[in-house]
Amino acid sequence: MSAFVITIENKDNFSQNLTILPPTIQLSLKGRIRVPGDKSISHRALMLGAISTGETHIEGLLLGEDPRSTASCFQSMGAEFSELNTELVRVRGIGLGNLQEPANVLDAGNSGTTLRLMLGLLASHPERFFAVTGDNSLRSRPMSRVVKPLQQMGAEIWGRKGNSLAPLAVHGTKLKPIHYNSPIASAQVKSCILLAGLMTEGKTTVTEPALSRDHSERMLKAFGAELEVDPETHSVTIIGPSKLHGQSVVVPGDISSAAFWMVAAAIVPGSELVIENIGVNPTRTGILEALAMMGADIQQENKREVAGEPVADLRVRSSRLKSCEISGDIIPRLIDEIPILAVAAVFAEGTTVIKDAEELRVKESDRITVMAQQLNKMGAQITELHDGMEIIGGTPLTGTELDSFTDHRIAMSLAVAALNAKDKTIIRRAEAASISYPNFIATLQKICS
Ligand code: S3P
Repeated sequence: MSAFVITIENKDNFSQNLTILPPTIQLSLKGRIRVPGDKSISHRALMLGAISTGETHIEGLLLGEDPRSTASCFQSMGAEFSELNTELVRVRGIGLGNLQEPANVLDAGNSGTTLRLMLGLLASHPERFFAVTGDNSLRSRPMSRVVKPLQQMGAEIWGRKGNSLAPLAVHGTKLKPIHYNSPIASAQVKSCILLAGLMTEGKTTVTEPALSRDHSERMLKAFGAELEVDPETHSVTIIGPSKLHGQSVVVPGDISSAAFWMVAAAIVPGSELVIENIGVNPTRTGILEALAMMGADIQQENKREVAGEPVADLRVRSSRLKSCEISGDIIPRLIDEIPILAVAAVFAEGTTVIKDAEELRVKESDRITVMAQQLNKMGAQITELHDGMEIIGGTPLTGTELDSFTDHRIAMSLAVAALNAKDKTIIRRAEAASISYPNFIATLQKICS
């Protein structure tokens, strides 16, 4: 057999199997590709557009299911969106403080960013009642990390398990400013509090133990909010109440989606891929640093600034990878890329240790357990740590039947592992990829042909 065979098969109305059969003779991955828009920036552009006065124009929006959840929630609170597409989405905002009480439950689907960021806005809209929920995965993810600081600001929020799980009920009220020392480096926690601070009179500050992604800070400033950032102490202050005005946002390609192709090209011998137009915001480039430590050959070309975010084309050539240790302050800068880094580590020489990443246990799935179990089924040697993994690299993988556990990043990471495995891999519930990467399988087929 002389080519990759990649097929997708509907199992029922809800579920798809992705089958990957690598060629018996070594074939490399070649080409120039683009990935969909950045998920974090897409959410924020839709939300800030919805609560600003005037029109916001968004180019390059991610059309995945997560941003669709954000748009649909804000639509039911009065914002208007043109048809969602990558070319140009127009948002007619309703102005700060004007979210209408929705007639039904707000459904954030699978999206933690939608639910957690939105809570900050809902809690600060006086005299309105909101009920919010999500899918099975989101309803099991911890919400106390945002409910607690919001309650310190005076918010009225109720939910299951001591107000820590969705569905949640929110009675909006006038909040008071606080200085919140977050125990975790989380952009969702930081952004929720900053959004609550938008309508709150005075200075609302969040300090985090390490810097998390700063897209909210950048975009809030661009929309007209008054913000002070102290990089030394990882603190951000919003001075409320603010006035936000519609803007033009250009969403770069998502470095978290590009990461799958970086690792694919690194591990499949003889490969060379150029991944164009990728956001390289320094709070997101931990993956480039980790792969560089592992000996990957990735060049940033044509570096430029687009609408307040740094962007580059990434040229990736295959190389021999070696193990490394990934821990400490770099973790929040590559948190979503750890599943695919685990794949890289499986093909690297030596033992890679990933620590300080217990947050992975409360993502769309428990990404430590699921990645260790699924890759071990293929023959990898991964031991779970309470806050990460120990990965003994260099054992060849053999394809088998795997499951995404409906987690988009697990589905895509396993697909990349399958490219360099012997025999056929079947990934169940592979449709999860469309949460953040709707045309993942089409791109996989393209670079493998
Ligand atoms: C995100 C922040 C991160 C990340 C998630 C998106 C955001 O979560 O894992 O995919 O857009 O703010 P945490 O804030 O929980 O670390």
